[in-house]
Amino acid sequence: MIRTVLILILCLATVSAASNPAKAQEPGREIYMKHCFWCHGEEGRGDGPAATGMLPAPRDFVGAEYRIRSTPHGQLPTDEDLRRAIAQGLPGTPMPGWENFLSDNELGQLVEYLKSFSPRFQTEKPEPMKTPTGTGSTERGKEVYVKAKCFMCHGESGRGDGGITAALNYQWGLPHPARDLTRGWTFRGGHEPSDIYLRITGGLNGTPMGPYQDLLDEQQRWDLAHYVTSLDREPTESSDDFVVVAVSIEGEIPDDPEAQQWQQAAAIAVPLAGQVVLDPPTRWWTPTAVTATVRALCNGREIGFLLQWNDPTGPDTTRPDTTRPDTVLADSALLQFATEEGSKPYFLFGDADNPVRVWHWRAGHAAEQSTATGSGTTQIEPEDFQVTSSWKEGRWHVVFRRPLSGEPKFEAGRFVPVLFSLCDGGNGESGGVRAISTWLYVTLQPPSTIRPWLLALASVLGTVVAEIWILRKLRS
Ligand code: HEC
Ligand code: HEC
Repeated sequence: MIRTVLILILCLATVSAASNPAKAQEPGREIYMKHCFWCHGEEGRGDGPAATGMLPAPRDFVGAEYRIRSTPHGQLPTDEDLRRAIAQGLPGTPMPGWENFLSDNELGQLVEYLKSFSPRFQTEKPEPMKTPTGTGSTERGKEVYVKAKCFMCHGESGRGDGGITAALNYQWGLPHPARDLTRGWTFRGGHEPSDIYLRITGGLNGTPMGPYQDLLDEQQRWDLAHYVTSLDREPTESSDDFVVVAVSIEGEIPDDPEAQQWQQAAAIAVPLAGQVVLDPPTRWWTPTAVTATVRALCNGREIGFLLQWNDPTGPDTTRPDTTRPDTVLADSALLQFATEEGSKPYFLFGDADNPVRVWHWRAGHAAEQSTATGSGTTQIEPEDFQVTSSWKEGRWHVVFRRPLSGEPKFEAGRFVPVLFSLCDGGNGESGGVRAISTWLYVTLQPPSTIRPWLLALASVLGTVVAEIWILRKLRS
């Protein structure tokens, strides 16, 4: 009922906006129809042709619930706030920054045009909060984080895995995950302490993130802003390392991800991007995992990989898939190795000429090792293969172990192409809808005479550099 009334009101609003001749003459309209309409829609309701299924959804300018503001909760943003959001974009969302494409004057015209979507801008005067200056203490901020119960949404470790977030998402189906505070580069309004101070003070309108202006004093909010900055520890992108070197250790490869031996291996940050299948077409979709960390060890008999990634939606083993009633969604990880010398198939699961070896772990299911020659044609091979997994504080830790004697052959001086792929069941990921890395290489730590290994490394790096160069050429 309420919905019907709302839709009626919106329809009336459409008619009045469309028939408002003054609006059609706004100088910002032309720029808006060229660049913004695709996502935000002609009438500014966040329903443009590209917006179907986009998450987060484009802002509805008629509703005017702006999030990145210097004004108190519930108020409109200032012109300067709007200009900043348009110029810099909203990191971690499909909303791009426009400062390199539009002039200052054009940005100003757009600000005026966006304001014309909501009559509130004619009657309300947004007042910026006191300009924040000040320092804070990370230690005190840690206490405030607990006292103010930020952990209930953002999780104890800040990975966005708090109890309320889980309930909001999965019991009530509201797409409002609390931000993963370990990934500062996805903060919509910037990740400097002064930005975070403003978000904590004024909240994010229209989201579960409320204002703390009256709940915490100014110093506490500063301390908290500094503490949040200190949580920002996830790498932005790759560490430019394409080679995973399995470091030699004495004794067994530990199944415990916290065992000290894993610290001996360098952590490689692997960037992941969404792979979207076209058949059936899926929604515009952002994978949960955008980076994973990988470490490798060997001990003369076995090779082991420790793969870790943030999954704030919690461990999923048998979440029902609403689109396919007979399937369940489970978190999963796979490692895919090219088996033929010099082959790096373009597709996940290889093709007839380029078979790949796949190690597949699914939460709550038995892990499998198989040879694949194209999507759908996998041959499961029982072999000595151990996988141990644990989910702790918003993060998966999965250890894969296998004897060195199997296929592919891991040797010092041999660089086996490997790629990583992850699925977050809680984000509806399964099948071809998954996060995937580019090809990296695995090798064993070289023996004491290092020359042949260095030569092989130089040739692999040469190939990688050439590939990147070709990709850049193709893109430009
Ligand atoms: C590819 C899609 C896309 C395009 C193109 C796009 N936006 Fe957005 N925009 C979004 C999304 C998605 C959000 C919401 C992000 C969120 O909720 O965190 C958004 C949010 C915004 C916000 C809200 C900021 C706030 O404080 O809440 C403004 C303002 C905005 N866009 C302006 C524009 C303007 C102006 C243009 C054209 C120059 C534009 N956008 C083009 C997708 C887009
Ligand atoms: C009721 C749940 C909830 C509580 C409690 C909560 N947050 Fe949030 N927080 C959220 C949500 C949801 C978002 C993301 C909003 C959105 O969709 O853009 C968020 C976003 C943020 C952001 C990101 C801002 C940006 O620019 O992207 C920061 C920083 C943050 N919260 C800090 C805190 C701190 C510090 C506390 C404790 C004082 C806190 N939050 C309490 C739910 C919560």
